[in-house]
Amino acid sequence: MQKVVSGIRPTGNLHLGNYFGAVKNFLRMQEEYNCYFFIADYHSLTTHPTPENLHNNVRQVLAEYLACGLDPEKSTIYIQSDVPEVAELSLLMSMNAYLGELERTTSFKDKARQQPENVNAGLLTYPVLMASDIIMHNADKVPVGKDQEQNLEMTRKFAGRFNHIYKTDYFTIPQSFNYGEALVKIPGLDGSGKMGKSEGNGIYLADEAKAIQKKVMRAVTDSGPTEMNSPLTEPVQNLITLMEVVSTPDTVQYFRDKYASCEIRYGDMKKQLAEDIIKFNAPIREKIEAIKADEAYLSKVVAMGRDKARESAQKTLKDVRSIIGIKQF
Ligand code: TRP
Repeated sequence: MQKVVSGIRPTGNLHLGNYFGAVKNFLRMQEEYNCYFFIADYHSLTTHPTPENLHNNVRQVLAEYLACGLDPEKSTIYIQSDVPEVAELSLLMSMNAYLGELERTTSFKDKARQQPENVNAGLLTYPVLMASDIIMHNADKVPVGKDQEQNLEMTRKFAGRFNHIYKTDYFTIPQSFNYGEALVKIPGLDGSGKMGKSEGNGIYLADEAKAIQKKVMRAVTDSGPTEMNSPLTEPVQNLITLMEVVSTPDTVQYFRDKYASCEIRYGDMKKQLAEDIIKFNAPIREKIEAIKADEAYLSKVVAMGRDKARESAQKTLKDVRSIIGIKQF
């Protein structure tokens, strides 16, 4: 079976956009591939989180993905730093990664601009560590969004370079992969663009009912249709798109009709939308809380993932050491 590897940065909670995007992809992939999903805590050290934040974020992200249905029996779900082999592979791979190409990486340049006081070596070698995450398990496929395409391109380059230098075909050259158009793009609440982390634009799975209500009631609309059957403006279309994923078709049709007849009251529409989002979120939110409270379950999941991931990692590392001439006496 083909292998998929994907890393999850432990920053911030999942919002509805993530849920109907990355998470839905993961749930489908875990049925179709041999998946390795890990929480990239080594990578997040490049931004210097406090120890409490790092740990809490790892826990939160893990609980959220499990609550959404990521299944430790079907996939290998682990924490990157539980598999120290990746650090050694990254060291070995760094010997054939060149300063110039690392400095030219867009994500490095962006980060250097965002945190000029902290342009550390980990930021520079970020793509080497990411490549190591991927080739460690000989992944065939890596689901990547636009922002990670270049990093995957670097992975392909590093893996290919290794094969070339050592005259081997040991590493699989991974392909980028997504289910693409099949997914609904979830818009934000600020009138345009998709849901993201920026303030006020996102609704999180972990949000309480009150917070959801507040955010939805504040969502951007327009001044209302003045002509019968006019097309939906972008902010209103965005609210309808959200309704389409959480409300019943009847509800959506009701508000479409009201808009068409110029009788729409955005207050009513938002109230309904908030209610339906709350209803949709409630079971997921409860699950997140239950999982977070269950230390025994969490440590079992983490240990299981670690053991499976290390088995695969140790095999790769043994082979790689031998290929490059680090041999047992
Ligand atoms: N860089 C990825 C991100 O920021 C996270 C990541 C780390 C990753 N290692 C990976 C993704 C390996 C895919 C494969 O989202």
